[in-house]
Amino acid sequence: MRQDRSASAPRFARRLLALAATVTLATAAQAGDLEVLHYWTSGGEAKAASALKATMQQKGHTWKDFAVAGGGGDAAMTVLKSRVVSGNAPAAAQIKGPSIQEWAREGVLANIDDVAKAEKWDSLLPKAVSDVMKYKGNYVAVPVNVHRVNWLWANPEALKKANAKLPTTWDEFFTTAEALKKAGIIPVAHGGQAWQDFTTFESVALGVGGADFYKKAFVQLDAATLNGATMEKVLTTFKKIKDYTDKNANGRDWNLATAMVIKGEAGMQLMGDWAKGEFVAAGKVPGKDFLCAAAPGTASAYTFNIDSFAMFKVKGDTKAQKDLAAAIMSPDFQEQFSLNKGSIPVRLNMDMSKFDDCAKLSSKDFVETAKTGALVPSIAHGMAVPPAVEGAMKDVVSQFWNSDRMTAKDAMAKLASAAKTK
Ligand code: GAL
Repeated sequence: MRQDRSASAPRFARRLLALAATVTLATAAQAGDLEVLHYWTSGGEAKAASALKATMQQKGHTWKDFAVAGGGGDAAMTVLKSRVVSGNAPAAAQIKGPSIQEWAREGVLANIDDVAKAEKWDSLLPKAVSDVMKYKGNYVAVPVNVHRVNWLWANPEALKKANAKLPTTWDEFFTTAEALKKAGIIPVAHGGQAWQDFTTFESVALGVGGADFYKKAFVQLDAATLNGATMEKVLTTFKKIKDYTDKNANGRDWNLATAMVIKGEAGMQLMGDWAKGEFVAAGKVPGKDFLCAAAPGTASAYTFNIDSFAMFKVKGDTKAQKDLAAAIMSPDFQEQFSLNKGSIPVRLNMDMSKFDDCAKLSSKDFVETAKTGALVPSIAHGMAVPPAVEGAMKDVVSQFWNSDRMTAKDAMAKLASAAKTK
């Protein structure tokens, strides 16, 4: 079932939303109370989120954790929408990418320019990032980190057992997958959920088609590109991966797939670097217990996913919200959070000496790809297109992954129409 991540709602709900905005103002959070809606519930995610909770408690605020389980955040966004419509918005929520604009358009987000100006955010963030955090030129959200999505994680012991190498191209990927299969090891750990299917799909698209193809297809939503020969190659390469996943993959949570690689039950996982947070939480060392590498064919490209929090309008004391926004962009928190989360800081000019080689590679590539134009937004993680289009495209890709009858040409036609979803 497609989760509609958009805040925009039919006319009657818009009226409800407007009413909710006033009701919310009336039932303002007490000074110092801070209810935060997020979806960081796995080992690494929860550890990283607890750093934010501790920071706010040290400032004397009461942190009310409203965590909605479900990787990728679709469930959390559904809960958030129902809470706002019923006039019970949290003080802050994990909202990111184009949906920030949708929520701001509903008139329910607070302006945090005073914090942004006092803390000089414009000089501390890449413009491409600060623009996403603003609505009509005013800050309404604060960025937390930068996740790279186009990663491949591998268990070196499993590769050794299979006498296989870490793949850098898709041909090598399938050779390695075949060797792992022969060695009796699940080649690819996967969770059959729409956002995970698309996370894999977009890395294949980037590796097979390249950054220009990716942007034309998934940012410009160009019909000819969505229906072209390269897209057909992307889809057939993507579907071939399924042959190397296990029969219990359907519905599996992403962090349980990561655990399969940690334990050596599986050899590889295609996932963003929040997966590194799971390896780190399990006490694993990069380069020794696990390997990180760009997803095949994507070493000179970077799919970004920037987590952020938006503040909802509350009446009365907004100090807790402003302290939250300032804390998130502080150097200490930026370092502490990403060390646990597997991401890199979004704040510029941070000291990376405490970070591991995977993070240092991510930081280097983030800067380089911003210059070459190979820095692309993740569709799967709400960076590229409006939520309604994202949801429709995820449905098509998951239908194709799960169907034995749907052809690549069928999927291409469906992607082209999904791109027109309003
Ligand atoms: C992403 C989110 C990450 C991570 C991942 C798995 O959308 O931006 O922070 O939590 O989902 O839940």
